[in-house]
Amino acid sequence: MSLAELRREYSLGELRREALEPDPIAQFKKWFDQATGARASGRVRQLLIRLYKSLLLISGAEPMDLNAMILATADKLGRPSARVVLLKGVDERGFIFYTNFQSRKGQELAENPHAALVFYWAGQERQATVAGEVRKLPQAESEAYFRSRPRGSRLAAWASHQGEVLADRAALEARWKEYDARYSGQEVPMPPYWGGYVLAPARIEFWQGRPNRLHDRFRYSRQPGETWLIERLDP
Ligand SMILES: Cc1cc2nc3c(=O)[nH]c(=O)nc-3n(C[C@H](O)[C@H](O)[C@H](O)COP(=O)(O)O)c2cc1C
Repeated sequence: MSLAELRREYSLGELRREALEPDPIAQFKKWFDQATGARASGRVRQLLIRLYKSLLLISGAEPMDLNAMILATADKLGRPSARVVLLKGVDERGFIFYTNFQSRKGQELAENPHAALVFYWAGQERQATVAGEVRKLPQAESEAYFRSRPRGSRLAAWASHQGEVLADRAALEARWKEYDARYSGQEVPMPPYWGGYVLAPARIEFWQGRPNRLHDRFRYSRQPGETWLIERLDP
């Protein structure tokens, strides 16, 4: 089938202004819980989700990485780059992720803190997009998270110079083993070039697919005084 012919209708749900939380982080958490199946509003919706999940289980395609998000950054000239990272927390400060500060994204964020996120939850026919400024998390918080990671991942943070050209896989594995030996019987500390960022949202948009491409879109824009303006957008 040609790409141009790949299309489908979006008809699972709707998004109404009355159903929106006044705070976009609360709205985001609601959608996230629904995507993970932790919370589903309405009996019909719960039934649909259960049906959808059992179909996915039968086909062996259970959705994973529901906290995966596209992170877009740009250098100081505005040239963009994007990649997937995992959302590791969301609170009143914003959206938290962890990475190597020396990676391309880390370098771009150092010169230009403006960034954007995209979440796509195909199971719900939903998208959430976020834009705002990024800053580093307090080191103690990054360290607490680092300590919670499996030892192998902690060693990988030392072994991988994320984004640098690598001669071959053996070189990476050899480095990992070196660190494994170095920290044998000890806690693996957090590398100084590794840690968390929090993206403080200035704008969050919620998109729900609807039939005939007449989708529902609501944008929350941060106003002075920590309030949010909510506007419906044309799809
Ligand atoms: C599902 C998935 C989750 C990922 N999670 C992270 C993550 O949390 N942090 C991270 O640094 N890279 C993560 N990556 C790898 C990034 O996509 C990317 O390859 C890496 O961070 C280097 O990006 P950069 O060179 O643009 O900075 C993930 C990739 C995938 C596919």
